[in-house]
Amino acid sequence: MRLRNIPRAQEEIDASPVAIKDEKNHRGKWAEVFGNEHPIHIEIGMGKGQFILELAKRNPEINYIGIERYSSVLLRALEKFSTEEYEELQNIRFICMDAAELDEIFASEEVEKIYLNFSDPWPKARHARRRLTSTRFLSVYEKVLVEEGVVEFKTDNRPLFEFSLEQVEEVGWELKAHTFDLHNNKEMNDGNIMTEYEAKFSAMGNPIHKLVAARK
Ligand SMILES: C[S@@+](CC[C@H](N)C(=O)[O-])C[C@H]1O[C@@H](n2cnc3c(N)ncnc32)[C@H](O)[C@@H]1O
Repeated sequence: MRLRNIPRAQEEIDASPVAIKDEKNHRGKWAEVFGNEHPIHIEIGMGKGQFILELAKRNPEINYIGIERYSSVLLRALEKFSTEEYEELQNIRFICMDAAELDEIFASEEVEKIYLNFSDPWPKARHARRRLTSTRFLSVYEKVLVEEGVVEFKTDNRPLFEFSLEQVEEVGWELKAHTFDLHNNKEMNDGNIMTEYEAKFSAMGNPIHKLVAARK
């Protein structure tokens, strides 16, 4: 997702108390940011933030950090946070950054769970390293996840999903669960929160695929 550049986006991010600007200074010390020792779950490429805001509302005992590369997109999540439904939440923060640098932001074993939803497919083979489920990124996640920490990934893109299953196997992670039709899988769909892309693509009739993989 890349929205038209919004000149005021950076200004709004700078002014927002929930958008972290000095993220590298908090490496190993995220508990101080939240003022408690609750587990940290992150979403990479959160887009406009619907999924992670809803998660944070449902689970006050978990601390959430939404990561998004583009300031114009992050701005949308900040605007959603500032609505009556979410503005009181104490357990969510946002960072504008590229996930490739994740291990500069989090120390070893600082993150319990990583969500990836409808990540950009980068269909050309020469761009495979940019896919957020490639072995390159899984190796970065491994540096910050707790032992047994998990990645949960949803997409409607079958080639990307099949690629992701292969990459999980290649890095030696444990595939805990997977489905090619999440919305018709009673067990895996229980408590599912739809993302913006999920709502759009499932309305078009596309089956949603999901995998859960645990760090080796
Ligand atoms: C296709 S959108 C999906 C948005 C949302 N997760 C959803 O399901 O509705 C993918 C998002 O991931 C972001 N993204 C892609 N690569 C990223 C990276 N390396 N680091 C951070 N964000 C990234 C994009 O900017 C975009 O907003």
